[in-house]
Amino acid sequence: MSGWLDGYVTLITGGGSGVGRAVAERFVAEGANVAILGRDRDKLDEVVGACPDQFRMLAIEADVRDSDQMHAAVAETVSHFGKLDTLVANAGIWDYQRQLTRLNGKELSDTFDELFSINVKGYFLAAEAAWRELVKTRGSIVMTLSNASFYVNGGGPVYTASKHACLGLMRELAYELAPKVRVNGVACGGMNTDLRGPESLSLHERSLAASFAKRSSDAPPPPIPLHDSSTDPRDFTGSYVLLASREQSGPITGQAISVDGGIGVRGFATAAGGDHL
Ligand SMILES: NC(=O)c1ccc[n+]([C@@H]2O[C@H](COP(=O)([O-])OP(=O)(O)OC[C@H]3O[C@@H](n4cnc5c(N)ncnc54)[C@H](O)[C@@H]3O)[C@@H](O)[C@H]2O)c1
Repeated sequence: MSGWLDGYVTLITGGGSGVGRAVAERFVAEGANVAILGRDRDKLDEVVGACPDQFRMLAIEADVRDSDQMHAAVAETVSHFGKLDTLVANAGIWDYQRQLTRLNGKELSDTFDELFSINVKGYFLAAEAAWRELVKTRGSIVMTLSNASFYVNGGGPVYTASKHACLGLMRELAYELAPKVRVNGVACGGMNTDLRGPESLSLHERSLAASFAKRSSDAPPPPIPLHDSSTDPRDFTGSYVLLASREQSGPITGQAISVDGGIGVRGFATAAGGDHL
């Protein structure tokens, strides 16, 4: 059976866990060869080891904040798999909804520098390192965006601003790289992943998965229309496949697909109007 990404070569930042890993595994299942890039060699090796087609995955240890390392990662991907069709810019951290009023000036400054250098500069540097190869293949970039790219309270102000910045970057690059390279985004809602916080707030060991684990079964559902929808990152990967595929989305660029349970169509009295159905 052929997949939607047969013969594609993809580089995924933050591919060692969470939605990056889920996208990597889905892309392999769709026929692609995939390089996964991250800071943690053990995590990356574990993902490659778990892949039924190990020769179709490549682990690259690198930090998205370092331009030389990003150029080396693109070069390694191309030398290993022969080309690059898709860059998935995805590596990121969260701010655990730390409000402005709960940060002093130094904490704010340090958190901003750390979080923006991963979430925003990391996407810039990945795109800069990859665009020449993507022009050759008429490839594309797919960025992991967030409900926080559009709405408040999906993070604190630092995270929300970073994800709004990524939305702007996606749109600007869609213009600048057209017509050769398409640039789109997947704006994910809440997913049960290993998402970490900034080291500057000593939140780098905290994992979002722990918060999901603590949630009791009688807790109120999230205030979104599809409040019983999955939070498994594997269920968020379809839009990445669609946007990466030239055949399926050749005329689409500069767009974000929201995969967030319908945050934009909430009601006033209740989030979902059809709970009686
Ligand atoms: N989990 C959610 O609820 C949620 C919702 C919307 C958007 N997102 C976004 O999804 C993306 C992936 O996060 P996730 O939820 O899968 O969490 P995750 O922690 O499982 O994945 C993020 C990956 O990025 C890597 N990473 C972090 N800093 C790095 C750096 N400097 N260099 C290289 N790699 C680095 C981490 O090691 C990790 O493997 C992020 O951009 C996040 O903002 C997550």
